[in-house]
Amino acid sequence: MSIPAHIADAVVDPKAYADWDRSHEAFAWLRKNAPLDVAEVEGFDPFWVVTKHADIKDIERQNDLFHNEDRSATLTTIEADQKVRAMMGGSPNLLRSLVQMDNPDHLQYRRLTQGWFMPQNLRKLEDDIRQIARGFIDQMADKGNECDFAKDVAFLYPLHVIMKVIGVPLEDEPRMLKLTQELFGAQDPDVNRTGEAVSDTEAGIGNIMATVTDFMTYFGAMTEDRRKCPREDLASVIANGKVYDEPLGQLEAMSYYIIAATAGHDTTSGTTAGAMWALAENQGELRKLMDDPSLINSMVDESIRWETPVKHFMRTAMEDTEIAGQKIRKNDWLFLAYPSGNRDEDVFDDPYSFKVDRPSNKHVAFGYGAHVCLGQHLAKMEMRILWEELLPRLRSVELNGTPTRVQANFVSGPKSVPIRFEMN
Ligand code: HEM
Repeated sequence: MSIPAHIADAVVDPKAYADWDRSHEAFAWLRKNAPLDVAEVEGFDPFWVVTKHADIKDIERQNDLFHNEDRSATLTTIEADQKVRAMMGGSPNLLRSLVQMDNPDHLQYRRLTQGWFMPQNLRKLEDDIRQIARGFIDQMADKGNECDFAKDVAFLYPLHVIMKVIGVPLEDEPRMLKLTQELFGAQDPDVNRTGEAVSDTEAGIGNIMATVTDFMTYFGAMTEDRRKCPREDLASVIANGKVYDEPLGQLEAMSYYIIAATAGHDTTSGTTAGAMWALAENQGELRKLMDDPSLINSMVDESIRWETPVKHFMRTAMEDTEIAGQKIRKNDWLFLAYPSGNRDEDVFDDPYSFKVDRPSNKHVAFGYGAHVCLGQHLAKMEMRILWEELLPRLRSVELNGTPTRVQANFVSGPKSVPIRFEMN
């Protein structure tokens, strides 16, 4: 059996993720009726949709059996795939960052920056990050009683943190934000490069390529600078780092900057904005958190589960195998549906409720296994600090209009979260 057309459409359609209910209802149907099954959608190669928490982990755990690099690591149409392969000498990916690598390269390239992202190193950044958080909260207070929490705080704060980590100067941050939104929001006319709906594959890839080229020009100059004058930043690690005793290849180095500069904030921004939205809508949970700030860590975990900003990654089977009783053939393509894993009724009690005190929150929003999010400790630390600083100053908050979400089936989160608030 393959998946009914309207359900498969909701899995691929970027608009379904802006709608939120449409994608969650489709995933709920799949978990109940076809937890691991094939989607056949016009214009796409057939692919398995993996909706159960246990199956997502089972696949991600076996990273030599399920690869990232052999087929596109994100869902793409047949036409786009052919065009990218033609441009990239046969490779299905425009970039070659950690998420588009398998062993042995993946391990070597991940080792280069792993230490940077470990909690003991990040502790050194805690004071700086707290200062940054306070600055944004002061700006929020200066706005009076109303703001768009997504645009005024949540987009800018993680951006500023990761840019400091990389070594991008303050004056270039708006450009980095714009380029990131163009890349992840390529399917959304409100944020993409041209500001128009993209129905033509050639034009869509052209836009993405133009954005990637802008990034590469920027980071190319930065590499030269850090080779001449290394500093204490991540850019210097990438510019001067060695893999297999050689400097990083051009594509690999540029891809490293780009993944850090994009994945390093959009995901955290989406989660932070989503947390504010959920708290404003659930006054009981907000009160619980305000009365007991020791719940901040569990609220942060819950907001990551709740929002799940990364909607999927793809894997490709390297051999015939079996998962959850289904026969997967060599070269089959699998869509890991993280938002579905994070609403799995077999793992989460009352999964559609936002609970600031949810116990042992084993969500898969950061993925699992060898590719598990490299920035997860940084993301959690940033969000913890923001809420530690914001909550003591916040007397009340409520929605002040209807929030909206980005149309995207890869990375998507709130676009606007208008709030009315009182602060000390
Ligand atoms: C990988 C989610 C924040 C950098 C990933 C993956 C997911 C993810 C789902 C793929 C994991 C897999 O394939 O198993 C998130 C979420 C975040 C977040 C939900 C925030 C709430 C960050 C931050 C950085 C970052 C702050 C900082 C640079 C990376 C990198 C990878 C990655 C470099 C590739 C790891 C690899 O393939 O080895 N992230 N991420 N992420 N993330 Fe994050």
